[in-house]
Amino acid sequence: MDILVLPGDGIGPEVVAQAVPVLKAVLGGAATFEEAPIGGAGVKAAGEPLPAATLELARKADAILFGAAGLPGDELGPRHLRPGGGLLKLRRELSLYANFRPAVMFPELIGASSLKPELVVGLDIMVLRELNGDIYYGTPRGISQDPAGFRVGVNTMRYTEPEIERIAHAGFKAARERRKKLCSVDKANVLETMVLWRETVAKVAKQYPDVELRNLYVDAASMELLRAPRQFDVILAPNMFGDILSDAAAMLTGSIGMLPSASLGGDAGSGARGLYEPVHGSAPDIAGKGVANPLAAILSAAMLLRHSAGRAEDAARVERAVRAVLARGLRTADLWQPGCEKVGTAAMGSAVLQALR
Ligand code: IPM
Ligand code: MG
Repeated sequence: MDILVLPGDGIGPEVVAQAVPVLKAVLGGAATFEEAPIGGAGVKAAGEPLPAATLELARKADAILFGAAGLPGDELGPRHLRPGGGLLKLRRELSLYANFRPAVMFPELIGASSLKPELVVGLDIMVLRELNGDIYYGTPRGISQDPAGFRVGVNTMRYTEPEIERIAHAGFKAARERRKKLCSVDKANVLETMVLWRETVAKVAKQYPDVELRNLYVDAASMELLRAPRQFDVILAPNMFGDILSDAAAMLTGSIGMLPSASLGGDAGSGARGLYEPVHGSAPDIAGKGVANPLAAILSAAMLLRHSAGRAEDAARVERAVRAVLARGLRTADLWQPGCEKVGTAAMGSAVLQALR
C-alpha cells in the first residue's frame, strides 16, 4: 500500500518521525512511503497550505499519516494562506467525512485525568465528528461592511440531508460494533440546521433498531461529558460541536497527547481510504524541543493499520506496546507525575518500537 506522510508544522514532524518507524516495522515491504509538505510548511515550500503536488499524492495514496498544521498567529494572516486551511481542504477534497476520535482511558494514566478516578475508570468513548460540512464550509462567509459602515462577520451553518444521512449511518454502524449506544449532539432548540440533523438521524435510526439512540443539546452534552462521562458510547456530532467536544473528551483521558484519530471516506468501513492524525495539533509552544508526546501519532498509525491496511491484529499489537511502555512508567512531560520516568519524544518512540519487537 502507498502511505503518504504529511508532517506539517510545529510538533507534527517530531511526532510523525516516531510513528513512521512503527508502520515500517509492521508493514515491512508491504508499504511504500512518500512525504510532502502541508500547512505552514506547504506555504513555505509552494506558496499555499495545500500545494497541488501534495493533493495529487494524497489522491493516489491508500492512507495518509498527518502530523499537525498551524503556526502562532494563524488567524491574523490572509485566509488562503492559513496553515489549518490546508488540512480543511484536504479533508473535503478527499471526501473524508467521518472523523473517529476515540477517547480511551489507559489504566496506567488514571491519575493524570483532571476528573476523579472513579468517574473515568474504564472510560471508552468514540466521538464521531462529521468533517465535511457545517459552519466550517458553509457559504456565504467572510468579513464585509454593512451600509452603516460597520464591519460584519458572517459564517453559515449548513447541512444537506444526504450529508447527515451518511454520517448517521457511520455512527450507527460504529455503535453496533461497540456497546450499541449512540448519542447524537445538536442544538435543535435554536438552529434549523440542527432540526434537520435531529430529524435525519431519527430517520436513519429506524434501520438500526438494535442501537439505542439518544439526543442531547450540545450544551447539555458538554456538561454530561464532565459530570458522568462513562454514560457515553458513541457520540455523533456535527463538525463544529465535534471539534469542541472531542478536545474535552480527550482531556478526560489525561492528556490530549494520547488521542489519535481517523478520518474516513467511502462507506467509512474497513478498507476505506483514510487520513490519520493525532488530535493535539501543532503545539508551537513546545515545538522543536523534543518533548512532545508521540503516542497520539503512534496510536494514529495503529488506526491506519486497522482501518486502511486491514491489519487489526497488528493494530492491537501496537496498542499493547504503548500500554507496555506506560506500564513501565515512561512518561513524556504532558503526563509526567512523581515516581515516573520523564522521557522525550524520541525515547518514547524508541521504547514503543522496542516493546513491539
Ligand atoms: C482539529 C483542529 C482543526 C479543526 C483545525 C487545525 C483546523 O482543531 O482537527 O480538531 O478545527 O478541525
Ligand atoms: Mg480541534
